[in-house]
Amino acid sequence: LQSTLSRLKEKVRTIPDFPEKGVLYRDITPLIGDGQFFRLVMTIFLERYQRRKIDKIAAIDARGFIFAGALAHILGIGLIPIRKKGKLPFQTFESEYASEYGVNTLTIHRDAVERGEQVLILDDVLATGGTAEAAAKLVERCGGTLVELGFLIELRELKGKERLRRYPIYSILQFP
Ligand code: PRP
Repeated sequence: LQSTLSRLKEKVRTIPDFPEKGVLYRDITPLIGDGQFFRLVMTIFLERYQRRKIDKIAAIDARGFIFAGALAHILGIGLIPIRKKGKLPFQTFESEYASEYGVNTLTIHRDAVERGEQVLILDDVLATGGTAEAAAKLVERCGGTLVELGFLIELRELKGKERLRRYPIYSILQFP
């Protein structure tokens, strides 16, 4: 398994100073661009979540859609887009957050989750945890309960896990 994870890790490209100076951007496009590796990631997520009671999968705009959409499809579970402000057309709840690079607002449709539903949040990267924390608050605001927050990559140095210590966190790959 360790060698599989190392091979997967090698498919993530690191770009210094993007989108701004001082940020080490972890680029997942080589990984998802390779069908075998993309499938491997989805197999790992599937293995982890197929036996859990999950009512909805919430996906964080934009790269979270890639993995959450695929997992929701395989499991036959509904998908909830958590989107950057101004993109959702119906009534929303909003949550402002600071991420590794800048302040932003995430939104969710007020009727996206029914009270008491078990929700899994998926995203590609956990950095400072600001984005994921805002997403988790939105799900809770709708009355949902978080099953877990799952990520392809955790950037350990940015301590997102500490920030999100109220929630169960899972990541397939850890950097550095
Ligand atoms: C990236 C990434 C996470 C978030 C992590 O998204 O996909 O959602 O940053 O950062 P944080 O843990 O410090 O909050 P980005 O805002 O770049 O948006 P994108 O998915 O639309 O590219």
